[in-house]
Amino acid sequence: MPSPIFSVTTPIFYINDVPHVGHAYTAIATDMIARWHRGRGESVYFLTGTDEHGEKILRTAIANGTEPQQWVDTLVDTAWKPALSELAISHDDFIRTTDRRHVEGVKKFLDVLWKNDMIYSGVFTGHYCIGCEEYKQAADLITLPDGTLACALHAIAVETNTEENYFFRLSAFQERLLALYESRPEFIRPESLRNEMVSFVRSGLHDVSISRTTFDWGIELPWNSDHILYVWCDALLNYITAAGYLEEPELFAERWPSLHIVGKDIARFHAVLWPALLMAAEMSVPRGMFGHGWLLVDGEKMSKTKLNGIEPRGMIARFGSDAFRYCLLRSIRFGHDGNFSEDEIHQRYNSELVNGLGNLCARVTTLVEKHFAGLLPHDTFAHIDAEERRILDLCRETTREADAAVERLELHKAIERIWELIVALNAYLTATEPWRLAADPTRMKRVARILHTAVRGLGTVAVLMHPIMPAIAQRLWAAVGGKGKVGDVRLDKADNAPMGEPVHSPGTVLFPRIEIADQH
Ligand code: MSP
Repeated sequence: MPSPIFSVTTPIFYINDVPHVGHAYTAIATDMIARWHRGRGESVYFLTGTDEHGEKILRTAIANGTEPQQWVDTLVDTAWKPALSELAISHDDFIRTTDRRHVEGVKKFLDVLWKNDMIYSGVFTGHYCIGCEEYKQAADLITLPDGTLACALHAIAVETNTEENYFFRLSAFQERLLALYESRPEFIRPESLRNEMVSFVRSGLHDVSISRTTFDWGIELPWNSDHILYVWCDALLNYITAAGYLEEPELFAERWPSLHIVGKDIARFHAVLWPALLMAAEMSVPRGMFGHGWLLVDGEKMSKTKLNGIEPRGMIARFGSDAFRYCLLRSIRFGHDGNFSEDEIHQRYNSELVNGLGNLCARVTTLVEKHFAGLLPHDTFAHIDAEERRILDLCRETTREADAAVERLELHKAIERIWELIVALNAYLTATEPWRLAADPTRMKRVARILHTAVRGLGTVAVLMHPIMPAIAQRLWAAVGGKGKVGDVRLDKADNAPMGEPVHSPGTVLFPRIEIADQH
């Protein structure tokens, strides 16, 4: 049964890394989706958080001369929470895997699996990559020039370990997973990723080791405290422990299941292991998952290990948080890889935001102020010319199509539609030349109609842009005479939003031009 709340999640972030633009991308995209659904009038539960256990974190804490708990507290407070706030992420809840509700919730869940005989003990030998925090399959290993076995992704030597472990019976879920993918084609999106996951599961599933004994920074298994839970199982469970699994059954029934937005690198955990764990506990599987592409720098995935990570803070300082969000979501087809280039962002900023939207807003508001003291006459639309009708129709179509695109999680398409409306509004003004007509006092009714249409168009843009550029959208909305908070306007009614307050130029320009020289 679908939950009454639209519940959406980001992955929980590995706090050991400094936040980079790749992480920001996941968070911004999910934020756009959450804000869009709120804008439709839905109740939303938007969850994000931090992944704080595991050997890597323990080792860095020790290297920094601190206790792991103290270390993670510092990283969450000084790096991750501020980064999300600077990006204007509007989450409703923030889970940490060191929270009591998580640790105790995980134990409760493990008890169920144990009782259901979904876990057994065995001996395991494997090649562990500390970079991936996982045992690698033979196909994912390479041999370095000196003969050592290494992880193909990180090119660092793997550790060959033999451990007594507990295993989860993943192999028992092959058929049920395939049946799930078959009966709910939208469970894994986009389509290409779905096909990849289906063939992976078809090729056969092995049981997975879910416990470790070589370090202790994690959650102890309830029936054997010498073992701690494998960090990926620990992390996946955040989605239910945050939603109220431990001791808030009513909240939990509303918030679960969720839609998971993740990068494609972690799609397999979400599409295969996670639903299988839930099935094993006889719980509902997620509403679905979407795997987005990677941000690439010179053709390589941006990551800390590759040392090509770019921090969002510099981008925000240069372009502002809203413009950075817009450029990132606009440049990359959601679900595909995309190149991250500061020069490209800069060009888009100048061409679309400064010259496109910013200029349009300035032109319209200045003319309304100059010729009508900010207030357009009410009877403007007694007669509507074909050109005005076309623009008003376009506002309606844009609203409908952008909304449908977000429903399909084609975020880039929604933004493309909004951008096309901006282009059409600029072209409309250039064609009708209200500034020229205004020189003739007998044409003022026509001037008012043109400006009224442009104001209505900009109002539509403001409402539709709110999930992408929340602060700029508010300024634009107020400038063109929108009433109250733009975030309170129903998004699926953006073409007909309540306006009519005085129009005024937004004070300072919406997007200050950034010259190339300013960048360096
Ligand atoms: N902690 C795990 C997730 C556990 S969820 C149960 C993790 N964390 S992460 O910090 O490494 O990644 C968080 C998100 O950032 C993931 O969606 C990941 O795909 C995304 N990105 C990290 N680098 C990226 C790029 N270069 N490009 C786009 N997104 C990438 O994985």
